[in-house]
Amino acid sequence: MITSDHGHNAKQSAQIAATAISEQTGIAQHDVALVLGSGWAAACDQIGETAWEADTTALPFFAPSTVPGHGGLVRSVRRGEQNVLLFMGRTHLYEGHGVDAVAHPVRTAAATGCQTIIFTNGAGSLNPDWSPGTPVLISDHINFTATSPLPGASFVDLTDLYSTRLRRACKDINPALPEGVYIQFRGPQYETPAEIRMARSIGADLVGMSTAIEAIAAREAGMEILGISLVTNFAAGMTGDALNHDEVLANGAASAQQLGRLLAKVLDRI
Ligand code: HPA
Repeated sequence: MITSDHGHNAKQSAQIAATAISEQTGIAQHDVALVLGSGWAAACDQIGETAWEADTTALPFFAPSTVPGHGGLVRSVRRGEQNVLLFMGRTHLYEGHGVDAVAHPVRTAAATGCQTIIFTNGAGSLNPDWSPGTPVLISDHINFTATSPLPGASFVDLTDLYSTRLRRACKDINPALPEGVYIQFRGPQYETPAEIRMARSIGADLVGMSTAIEAIAAREAGMEILGISLVTNFAAGMTGDALNHDEVLANGAASAQQLGRLLAKVLDRI
């Protein structure tokens, strides 16, 4: 089911998936997409009334989920006048399905009519002041994956990739929210302490294995983008402790309800 055709067919595949969503939901158009990363699942019940839910694999061209703790569900949620397309779980580059599989939910969201997309993720912190449980607005990213979701000579501008307007809206809601630069590594291994020192020296504040590739696809599709990381751990080498996927998930889950309230308030300002 997964297209390996990098580029052109990706848009058609997204259109086919979007048509399936319209048919199954009976909703012609969605307005905002929300991608919930690891640890964010508990946030979803604060968003609104679930009108429809499906396994992402029941939709065309969505890759099967292979990671424990990263469910593959998609919901249509009604919030006031908004139809929110909510993805619980995402496809990661390290799963090996290729960049188009990673970008497919984003392109599908655009094809359903979404003009705004909110990416959330669980991330390692490179800032000693940001302990696990801290939400951080993504101000910019470093794509350290050595790949791109864009085909051929697509010279897409990434200035102000993470919307200044939406970051301001978040800070109106919670003035204490910090901002930082997110670096995406391919994974699946966590970074070495040396890689984290390098990431710090090139300007990264947060580290993870998602979001940058998706944000590039979202920009190409013309969507306004908001990114929020939830710090789940200090990055490798910062504390002397080993990194552990279960702990990363548990730290996320503890804060997700509070984050749900933030997301709900941001949605009201879109
Ligand atoms: N590194 C990479 N990905 C992550 C981390 C990390 O420290 N924490 C959560 N996702």
